[in-house]
Amino acid sequence: MNKERFDAAASEWDKSQTRVNMATKITSQIIKNIPLQNNHTVMDFGCGTGLVGLNIAPLVKKLVGADLSTEMLKNFKSKADAQQLTNVDILELDADSHLGNGEYDAIVSAMTVHHIKKPSELFARFASAIKSGGYLGVADLAKEDGTFHSDNTGVYHYGFTPEEFIEFFTQNGFEKPHITVAHTIDKPHKSFDILFCYARKL
Ligand SMILES: C[S@@+](CC[C@H](N)C(=O)[O-])C[C@H]1O[C@@H](n2cnc3c(N)ncnc32)[C@H](O)[C@@H]1O
Repeated sequence: MNKERFDAAASEWDKSQTRVNMATKITSQIIKNIPLQNNHTVMDFGCGTGLVGLNIAPLVKKLVGADLSTEMLKNFKSKADAQQLTNVDILELDADSHLGNGEYDAIVSAMTVHHIKKPSELFARFASAIKSGGYLGVADLAKEDGTFHSDNTGVYHYGFTPEEFIEFFTQNGFEKPHITVAHTIDKPHKSFDILFCYARKL
């Protein structure tokens, strides 16, 4: 269901200034709080067209964009090529897939977890894929009333409370998660906070 939805949205995705602004704010939080280095391998899970990941790629050795949507990944790759980023790989996968065994120095994810049926299982897979001492940084909607999306197809969670977010981290071996409001999206009827939470894996 999500694949069709995001495949259909891919070509127009970057035309939304709201999305571009949000990704810029989330990327700033990632860069400010996660000590990325030029020998690091980093995954952007639910990378979409790369509004976050492609801005991180120049700072690291390898950036892997992982997503369910073939069309999102095609856009991600063609943008990477246009920017002559030679350190970018793509992985087409579903959230249920195995993500790795400790090969990532960091995993980041923006606005994707509310589209995942069982986030606690995804966080367990993040934990397996991140090396000890590595980082996880996740941005997503704060708890909302179901009016953020005009169509809630493929939306499994109306955002998360800070407590829910923190528990995903602490239950999967991440120490002392830090949480902040990374951005607020003002829609005509309401404002919606975007939370950013990050922590180091023990
Ligand atoms: C709201 S978009 C965010 C894209 C990008 N991170 C950004 O900030 O512009 C959510 C992304 O998650 C991907 N996605 C949704 N469900 C997924 C799943 N079950 N497994 C992997 N990716 C998924 C979608 O294809 C889409 O690219």
